[in-house]
Amino acid sequence: MNIKLILLLIFIPFFSISHEVNIEDKSVEKIVKERMANMSKIKAYSSKMYPLAMASEFDEIKLLNEELLHAAKDFKELFPLGSQGGKASELIWGDRETFDLYNDNFIKSIEDIGLSIENQDSVSLMENFNIMASNCGTCHKKFRN
Ligand code: HEC
Repeated sequence: MNIKLILLLIFIPFFSISHEVNIEDKSVEKIVKERMANMSKIKAYSSKMYPLAMASEFDEIKLLNEELLHAAKDFKELFPLGSQGGKASELIWGDRETFDLYNDNFIKSIEDIGLSIENQDSVSLMENFNIMASNCGTCHKKFRN
């Protein structure tokens, strides 16, 4: 076998592994900025939703809730290996199972708000809004520095 081919065979697995775990510094910065922007949006949408939930403004709150759901789903994907930074706790990469669970609980609570809106149910809307909002503190306490 020629030497170039042998070297190639030795290094192919190395390249593919290192590609997965190492992210360039520049893209890490970009990812951190993106997830911070994402959280700012989550804060803005949820603050706007509160008075609308209180007033049972189903049509208006529906649009904001859909935006909130997108932002929450995107947020979960913005923590690839090696993207430590910002105020994100190191623990996110140490206990991914719990972090994923908290994200999924958050996403589920937003979907439940969607059901209350569909059913035009003011009481469950407020209940589900409060459950959604309680997820913010639960996650920050454990996973935000
Ligand atoms: C599953 C975890 C999780 C949930 C749920 C969550 N957050 Fe966060 N939040 C974080 C993490 C992690 C950061 C730090 C991100 C970083 O700096 O890289 C953060 C950062 C923030 C920031 C700072 C953004 C910035 O520009 O620095 C705000 C504001 C915020 N969250 C508000 C909220 C609100 C409001 C809710 C609920 C409606 C919420 N968060 C729900 C994990 C969560």
